[in-house]
Amino acid sequence: MLEKYIDELYEKNDLDDEKLLYILENIDDKSREYLVDKSHKTRMKTYGNKVFMRGLIEFTNYCKKNCEYCGIQNKNRKADRYRLTYEQIMECAEIGDRLGYKTYVLQGGEDPYFNDERMIEIIKGIKKRFPNNAITLSLGERSYDSYKKMFDAGADRYLLRHETASKELYEWLHPGEVFGDRIKCLYNLKEIGYQFGAGFMVGLPCQTNEDLVKDLRFVKEIEPHMCGIGPFIPQKETSLGEYSSGTLEDTITMLALVRLLLPNVLLPATTALGSIDKVGREKGIKAGGNVVMPNLSPTNVREKYALYDGKICTGDEAAECRKCIERRINNAGFEIAVTRGDNVKWSQENPHVPQYDDKIVDINGILGF
Ligand code: SAM
Ligand code: FES
Repeated sequence: MLEKYIDELYEKNDLDDEKLLYILENIDDKSREYLVDKSHKTRMKTYGNKVFMRGLIEFTNYCKKNCEYCGIQNKNRKADRYRLTYEQIMECAEIGDRLGYKTYVLQGGEDPYFNDERMIEIIKGIKKRFPNNAITLSLGERSYDSYKKMFDAGADRYLLRHETASKELYEWLHPGEVFGDRIKCLYNLKEIGYQFGAGFMVGLPCQTNEDLVKDLRFVKEIEPHMCGIGPFIPQKETSLGEYSSGTLEDTITMLALVRLLLPNVLLPATTALGSIDKVGREKGIKAGGNVVMPNLSPTNVREKYALYDGKICTGDEAAECRKCIERRINNAGFEIAVTRGDNVKWSQENPHVPQYDDKIVDINGILGF
């Protein structure tokens, strides 16, 4: 029965909720292999064996929010707070470009210091220097107006995980926040014209398979260009510090199911997945993942962006991360693409945006060998 449902999903790129739930309730190692194989075949049709790289710049760990799972939540008095300056951000962009990252992801807590004016200055500064490189923002919830101004300034994409599509679970994890407000932000980003990303955590405390089906249905409906999926990992200074992490197996299952539901989606093999298993990112890529986001932040701030315990890549220089990721991707049987790496459907709709694959990356030179 299970393989029959997986076949139906592979053929139609959709499946009703009861059958999705049946898969989640009954999947074992053997049927997961079958699922991963179908997911791999689907990604080969849309993106081939290419994996896109994004240079992640974690530019502030100040945050006004209190997401219960998150290590940089406002109430964590032990968090050592930092903000990168405009010059530091530009330096990260410069290094990133030389390393072959044609997309920057500017991510941070919800930090009021980075108001629209400051964000616009950063976006315009990067775009002036690197007009062919894409900018992805991941700054949490902001007004329609703010999203629009940053888009008009040149931002290309926006990542805003919905975190969980269960209203009850969402509001338990975000005291005082309204689930509908987050969802409205995603619809606003879509309307404005961003390539936008939703996404969720797997293995959250009290999360059920029914909740995960809601995540699958939500992403199928909103059809994001990107979907960030990673395991929940506890952080010791938070109220959820004693819970266990989401598992590799469950995360792989969800990645594969999302690839089958949304064949064109950009699907990162996340740092969190690499943090719970030594080859988690490789396994994520094999299960349909086609994006990696190596860290470009200065090494002296890496440990401070401690969303969860045991985060990998906190000590490595950007160039080392770049080398390491390429080796891992190649070992898994895939190839890196030195391009903006837009969503394939979006690219077809926007043929005027060049992708570039100029293979100009002299890693050894950058490492000083
Ligand atoms: N402030 C922005 C926002 O809320 O979208 C972006 C930064 S936020 C730290 C980026 C993502 O980290 C969140 O969307 C969440 O899914 C993930 N995250 C936070 N704490 C985590 C944890 N303990 N385990 C796994 N992922 C976590
Ligand atoms: Fe704001 Fe995590 S609570 S980034």
